[in-house]
Amino acid sequence: MDGAVMTALVPRRVIIMGTGGFALELSALLMAAGGVVTGFTGPAPDCALPAPWLGEDHVLADADPESAVLVAAGNPGLRQNLLRTAEGLGRRIASFVHPAAWVAPSAGIGAGSLIYPNSTLHAAVRLGQGVLINSNVTIGHETEIGAFTNLGPGCSLGGRTRLGERVIVGIGATIIERLEICDDAVIGAGAAVIRPLSRPGRWVGVPARWLEQNP
Ligand SMILES: CC(C)(COP(=O)(O)OP(=O)(O)OC[C@H]1O[C@@H](n2cnc3c(N)ncnc32)[C@H](O)[C@@H]1OP(=O)(O)O)[C@@H](O)C(=O)NCCC(=O)NCCS
Repeated sequence: MDGAVMTALVPRRVIIMGTGGFALELSALLMAAGGVVTGFTGPAPDCALPAPWLGEDHVLADADPESAVLVAAGNPGLRQNLLRTAEGLGRRIASFVHPAAWVAPSAGIGAGSLIYPNSTLHAAVRLGQGVLINSNVTIGHETEIGAFTNLGPGCSLGGRTRLGERVIVGIGATIIERLEICDDAVIGAGAAVIRPLSRPGRWVGVPARWLEQNP
């Protein structure tokens, strides 16, 4: 959970790993905030990206050495693997904190984390590596978010809550204060979590209940 203290953080020059909608969205935010995207890596793009497609991820070994890397993959496990790949190729991993986010000076942000506009991280929040905080998210004081976890647009977390690694919190979900959420929990859009979640898998509804796996 170590990380630099920061408010806005816009990397000057980046290559984005990812060629889909997430990459499109992230590049638009970054460029509007003054960053330069020198290219994208991954599968051949299926949408119009605002910088060249450089090829599959292995091209990172030789691509522009001045560019740091941001990973645009919504699946937490994939994001974890891509960050490890980039590190293995000797790349510097960037983080992105949009200028319209508010991050308390006492908060800590792990490398490779992305924080979108209008999100608020209150005092002493801690983010692990590669965390995604989407737009309009609120995180209460001293809450800890494990590596590669996703917080969907508009979700709210109370203070002193602890989320594990690779957790997905859906659009508009709410998690009250002082709860423990285990690794790999998936919290559905609009859910209200009012008890600790000790079991990976899907949790939906108000209050959130575990959803059986499909047969
Ligand atoms: C929870 C979730 C992962 C389940 O997806 P899934 O495995 O494909 O499940 P299904 O769509 O087959 O739904 C299974 C059952 O759960 C119910 N369900 C699914 N999501 C639900 C939700 N968010 N709240 C309440 N019930 C939900 C369905 O109605 C269905 O019920 P039924 O069997 O009685 O018909 C998904 O619906 C969800 O909420 N994802 C979050 C998406 C999101 O926020 N993305 C962020 C993008 S930035």
